[in-house]
Amino acid sequence: MITALEIDKTLSNSEIYNRLLPQIEGMINTDEPLITNLANFIAILKEAFEKISWIGFYLRKEEKLFLGPFQGKVACTAIELGNGVCGTAWEKKETIIVEDVDKFPGHIACDSNSRSEIVVPLLKDGDIYGVLDLDSSNLSSFNDDDKKYLEIFAGILTQKLEFSKMVL
Ligand code: SME
Repeated sequence: MITALEIDKTLSNSEIYNRLLPQIEGMINTDEPLITNLANFIAILKEAFEKISWIGFYLRKEEKLFLGPFQGKVACTAIELGNGVCGTAWEKKETIIVEDVDKFPGHIACDSNSRSEIVVPLLKDGDIYGVLDLDSSNLSSFNDDDKKYLEIFAGILTQKLEFSKMVL
């Protein structure tokens, strides 16, 4: 269990992710509820990266994604398969980077300040349990480095935590 995040915000994007990796692994407590772990995971990333304006999980219940632990402004609560960036990442089971949300057909604008976005699916053995959604109020804030590390982080979460027993 970590008590405070140790992060040097002057480091590069990749270096920050590298430093976060052991802290995220140390933060996960499999004796505590899934939602508790997800809430602190969100807090860690939000604190580490000033470029993030909104970050949260949308978790799958049957044929919809529902808003989970997040930090940022009030957001839409339910997203259907194929809708918006989140529903598209769910449908394709792949990470989507959006450099300019105004150019993504069907983008769901929860926060009018959002300019760019990355959505990473929570996958294990081909099953999808939800998505991790990060927004920024600047254009082109997320790149392949963010994709690489966020997919590693999502993989750690789905390997260590029991998403298959998630109750929403
Ligand atoms: N923009 C997302 C919706 C969620 S908000 O960004 C918090 C989408 O298009 O799926």
